Amino acid sequence: MDIVSTAADLRAALAGQRAVLVPTMGNLHAGHLALVQQARVHAGATAAPVVASIFVNRLQFAPHEDFDTYPRTFERDCAMLREAGCDLAFAPPEPELYPEPQTCTVQPPPALADILEGRFRPGFFTGVCTVVLKLFNLVQPQAAVFGKKDYQQLRVIQAMVRQLALPIEVLAGETARDADGLALSSRNGYLTAEQRREAVALSRALRDLASAVAARRSDWATLEADAMQGLRLRGWQPDYVAVRRQRDLAPPAPGDALVVLAAARLGSTRLIDNLELAAAS
Ligand code: PAF
Repeated sequence: MDIVSTAADLRAALAGQRAVLVPTMGNLHAGHLALVQQARVHAGATAAPVVASIFVNRLQFAPHEDFDTYPRTFERDCAMLREAGCDLAFAPPEPELYPEPQTCTVQPPPALADILEGRFRPGFFTGVCTVVLKLFNLVQPQAAVFGKKDYQQLRVIQAMVRQLALPIEVLAGETARDADGLALSSRNGYLTAEQRREAVALSRALRDLASAVAARRSDWATLEADAMQGLRLRGWQPDYVAVRRQRDLAPPAPGDALVVLAAARLGSTRLIDNLELAAAS
């Protein structure tokens, strides 16, 4: 696996080949590696190289968030990417991606980006879309893989690609989970041993909510409020628990394919998770 840190070296390494891209912020775990393997399979059909980017994107962090302390584990990340069959790692230093203040930004569709995560992390999706568009422009991939763990991010990027007519296929990767059901996340590393044991309650709350919805309960507001209260009683501070339509995260109508989503803080660590429900028959 080659490692490049500048746009010029990236272009030279790709030599016009249209790669399959896996954008990451590093601090990789098995969930990222599954996305790289998915990219590998997709690339296999076209003999395209697999590129993973490693870049902690300041633009998507609010001033009070964990940009400065976000774990930077570059050597370990590269070893994991190599092992997973990645061909090229693109790890630009900040001045390479942002040589001047990034005042030109992407405004994602407000109806999709200002709800749920966007409500609690204003500007987050502008930061994500801006760096992802920039990575797309630099790598010019034929396809890019995003995990369903960040479900709203996936939908926002799909909307950006569609509305800006970017010639890129967006592939969705399933959420990787630990044996007890906790969704893998770089931020799980912030949890104490006791919090780690408790953390599974978030995916359980979503499973219970999904079961109630699948059992055709449609008093969603009550179910959401009950799930939030259940988490509060266990010591969490939930931001939201929501039943939404899969395709655009709008409040659902009967017959829509649904997803349940949650974000909650355990101590100082904010975790998100979601579960898709099979469409009702
Ligand atoms: O999901 C992430 O790790 C980040 O939001 C992304 C897509 C790499 C953009 O910085």
